[in-house]
Amino acid sequence: MEHQDQVLHYPDPRLRRKAEPVEEITPEIQARVRAMFPLMYEERGIGLAAPQLGWNVRLFVVNISGEPGDEFALINPELVEEGGGTWVLEEGCLSLPGIHGKVKRNKRIVMRGYDLDGNEIEIEADGMVARCMLHEFDHLDGILFIDRLSPVKKQSIKRKLRTLEEEFATASA
Ligand code: NI
Repeated sequence: MEHQDQVLHYPDPRLRRKAEPVEEITPEIQARVRAMFPLMYEERGIGLAAPQLGWNVRLFVVNISGEPGDEFALINPELVEEGGGTWVLEEGCLSLPGIHGKVKRNKRIVMRGYDLDGNEIEIEADGMVARCMLHEFDHLDGILFIDRLSPVKKQSIKRKLRTLEEEFATASA
């Protein structure tokens, strides 16, 4: 099975692919997506995109509070609107353990897509939810938050990236 219940770490090349749209929301896909939530909570994440599991489809899950009822999944998301000015905040990523850095993103967004039941939904978000959705949306195009860091910051995390590269080389040897 292509899906694996393990978050891939940088520099796994599967994190750099452009993900494919979901053609049909089957019971199998619903089950896979539902299984992403406990995995995300276990890893103490606030968002998780399918490509982070080596599952090359355009969907992600989010729960920024970690509270039941705040979770949602978005399938085949489209960024419809982006604005409200920009803000900078430190981000991390389950695929880049131990690395954090400030990323500039738009404050307000509107994304359209499908929920787990196949209903078309539009989500208007701002602040942390918007930031998290943009971060996860990036994963669907193979973009990691480290790609959006300033050149100075990029330089300063080089050693940590090198460590992850060595770990990856060891694990795949
Ligand atoms: Ni991430």
